[in-house]
Amino acid sequence: MTMPFSPPLVRMQNLHKSYGPEIQVLKGLDIEMKPGERVVVIGPSGGGKSTLLRVMMGLEKIDSGSITFGGKPYISSEGVGRKTVIDTEVRRSIGMVFQHYTLFPHLNVVQNLILAPCKVRGERKAEATERAIALLSRFGLGAKAKAFPAQLSGGQKQRVAIARALMLDPKLMLFDEVTSALDPELVAEVEQVILQLANQNMPMMIVTHDMWFARNIASRVIFCAGGVVVEDGPPEQVLGSPKEERTKDFIERVFHIRQ
Ligand SMILES: Nc1ncnc2c1ncn2[C@@H]1O[C@H](COP(=O)(O)OP(=O)(O)O)[C@@H](O)[C@H]1O
Ligand SMILES: [Mg+2]
Repeated sequence: MTMPFSPPLVRMQNLHKSYGPEIQVLKGLDIEMKPGERVVVIGPSGGGKSTLLRVMMGLEKIDSGSITFGGKPYISSEGVGRKTVIDTEVRRSIGMVFQHYTLFPHLNVVQNLILAPCKVRGERKAEATERAIALLSRFGLGAKAKAFPAQLSGGQKQRVAIARALMLDPKLMLFDEVTSALDPELVAEVEQVILQLANQNMPMMIVTHDMWFARNIASRVIFCAGGVVVEDGPPEQVLGSPKEERTKDFIERVFHIRQ
């Protein structure tokens, strides 16, 4: 019996990225992500995790390699100093939330949410506002619709940032240490929102140092170091009984867990 063919959601092949001749960050990175997967990327600081997500989001050029999305070409480059080709339609189907809040300070919460849908997609303001309010109440932020970012806690700002990304109906969400800058008591409310999205089968790629969160959200964990994938597998295996020495060391140091 033949299985129906379903292409990977994302296929990164042999990605190379440097910042000038001195700093080589990605050194032949290969990652494949199936539809519906939630991939947690862990690895040492400065190892290129943010760079990887920024490349995926089309915010950084690559030196060489290629990325396909849903089986179609998304990003490719023919070498250092050559053009990086990006499919902007695919790029718009990817949402990203960063460590530091990136809300527009002069716009209230609803205005932050409807800006891109109205500008990019030409959605009518009334429709976008209705969707924004529904999304905000889903995330427990219904009362904050007219608040300005400065009037929100860090956890609320991050939840608004997630809602804003969702306004464009992304097919993939990228989260780069979204709770790292938060006071400890605000971490859970943001992680709960992401877990809620996971329950609705939103594909995501997440960079986090939070062990509890990684274990609960990941369908797969990838340990990246030295610009390549060192270990890749189910969370129980990579976090619980890593095969590679480098993964073991990292997990002991960062998560304070003795194997
Ligand atoms: N815009 C940039 N210009 C020059 N070097 C950069 C830039 N962004 C990141 N780097 C360097 O690239 C390396 C990887 O950084 P980054 O992707 O932020 O790693 P991580 O997120 O894993 O901590 C680091 O050495 C960092 O200093
Ligand atoms: Mg980073």
